[in-house]
Amino acid sequence: MNKKINKILRKKYKSKIVSLTAYSKKIAQILDKHCDIILVGDSMANVLYGNDNTHNLTLETIISHSLSVKKGIKNSLFVVDMPKGTYENIQVAKKNAKLIVKKTGCDAVKIESNKKNYNIIKGLVTSNIPVMGHIGYTPQFKKKFQVEGDTKKKIEKLIKEALLIQKAGAFSIVLECIAPAASQLITKILKIPTIGIGSSNNCDGQILVTDDMLGLSGFYPKFVKKYASLDRVIEKAVKKYTRDVKLKKFPAKKNFLNGTKLRKKN
Ligand code: KIV
Repeated sequence: MNKKINKILRKKYKSKIVSLTAYSKKIAQILDKHCDIILVGDSMANVLYGNDNTHNLTLETIISHSLSVKKGIKNSLFVVDMPKGTYENIQVAKKNAKLIVKKTGCDAVKIESNKKNYNIIKGLVTSNIPVMGHIGYTPQFKKKFQVEGDTKKKIEKLIKEALLIQKAGAFSIVLECIAPAASQLITKILKIPTIGIGSSNNCDGQILVTDDMLGLSGFYPKFVKKYASLDRVIEKAVKKYTRDVKLKKFPAKKNFLNGTKLRKKN
C-alpha cells in the first residue's frame, strides 16, 4: 500500500489527522508543510467558480486545478474529489478515476456516498485506486444543508453506511455535518480514520475548506472557525493601490524600467 496512506492509517489511534483543501500550487505549498492530507475538493465549484452547488463541475476543471496543486505537494497525501456524474457506474468510475490518477499523480480519489455506490468503491479499490469515502451531508446528492445523525434511527443508518464503505475498501472517510454523538460512535466502530467537517472533535482528523477558514469564501457556518480575514487584508491592499494610482504615487521611480534589468521580486 501507498506509504502516505499507511501513515494516515497509523494515525487513527495516535494523533489527529490534519487536512485542508487546495485548488492551486501556492496554497498547496503552504499547506504541505503542515497538513497530512490535501484535498482538491469539488467545493471549488462554489468557492472559485461562484456556483450555487457543486453539480456542474467537470472532470477537466478538477484535473486542471489538481495539476497546479500537485506542483506544491511534497509530503502530504494528495486526494482529488470525483465530481458528480463522473462515477455513476463501475466502468465510468474506473475510466475517470484512472484518468484523474494518471494525469494528476494523486494518491487517492474521494467519492461521496449516495448509500448505493459501495460497489463503485470496491471496483476502484480492486483496481488499485485508493478511495476516501464521504457520508453525512453530501453536497452532490443532498439538497438540504442540515445536521445529520441527530436521532437514534439516523445514527444507526449512518453506522451501517460507514461500515459498508469500510467493507468496500475505503482507506478513510469524511464525516460532514454529523452530530457529535454519531461521529463519536462511527469513529469508535470503524477501523479506518474518520475526517470530520462540522462533526465535532470526536473524529480522527479534521478538514475545512481553506478559503472558508481564511475568510475568503463568504461562507461561514457555525462549524467554520475563521483563522484569518483575508477579505479585509485584500480590500485594504486594493484601497491603498487605488489611492496610489490616483495620486500618481504608483508606479514610483523605483518601479520604472529605465534600461535597468528586469529583476524578479518576491
Ligand atoms: O469539496 C470539499 O471541499 C469537500 C469537503 C469535505 C472539504 O469535500
